Amino acid sequence: MQSSFHVAIIMDGNGRWATARGRPRQIGHRAGAEAVRRIVIGAPPLGIDVLTLYAFSSDNWQRPITETAGLMKLFSNYLRRETATFVEKGIRLTIVGRRDRLPADARRAVDTAEAATRAGTALQLRIAIDYSARDAIVLAAHKARQQPTMPLDRDRFAWLLGEATHAGHAVPDVDLLVRTGGEQRLSDFLLWECAYAELMFSRKMWPEWTAADLAAAVADFRMRERRFGALPDAAAAS
Ligand code: FPP
Repeated sequence: MQSSFHVAIIMDGNGRWATARGRPRQIGHRAGAEAVRRIVIGAPPLGIDVLTLYAFSSDNWQRPITETAGLMKLFSNYLRRETATFVEKGIRLTIVGRRDRLPADARRAVDTAEAATRAGTALQLRIAIDYSARDAIVLAAHKARQQPTMPLDRDRFAWLLGEATHAGHAVPDVDLLVRTGGEQRLSDFLLWECAYAELMFSRKMWPEWTAADLAAAVADFRMRERRFGALPDAAAAS
């Protein structure tokens, strides 16, 4: 039973957006950070309770150091700049993923922003950085193995997965997964949590995304019939 509305977004297309304008990729990431700002502010009025944004996958470390270092700096600056707004709007921030490989400055920015926004209840904003769904599942499985006498079922595994990704609780299933930038793949994002997610792929590059795009995605989602493997109501009654 879903108790909260969870939207997750794979923010793709920063690089192509910049390249198409003859600009360096980092300019695309900067424009992407502005889009993050718009989407975060636009989420609570749409009834979104949990918003998970994929900002940096564990596989993204394979990119050139100039790009990864630039992104880390961008994340730190974003968190520092936005914390006051988060507090004012009741947004609780959590970073999802590994923290031990983040630069010290980014770790400090994460700790400060998380502590400052802890009391927020209007929106749970989860930003995935150095995140791999498969690594999180493996980590949760290790945790389960360390407690062999505890019965293991879906709910308990979801809780362990929450622990593995620093949520500190079971993360609600994703209701709507959006990927921008025209590609149609999951890229190791929330594989367990997306078991019954509605998928939506947008051709627009992430820096062009606005609150109106998010509203349209939510409106489309609300038209869909979710069956979770059961029959539609009419068929079940016949
Ligand atoms: C994928 O697009 C995007 C990323 C790897 C970085 C995402 C970063 C942001 C949206 C900006 C800042 C985020 C926060 C949370 C402040 P890509 O660059 O791989 O695009 P491409 O496929 O067009 O090359």
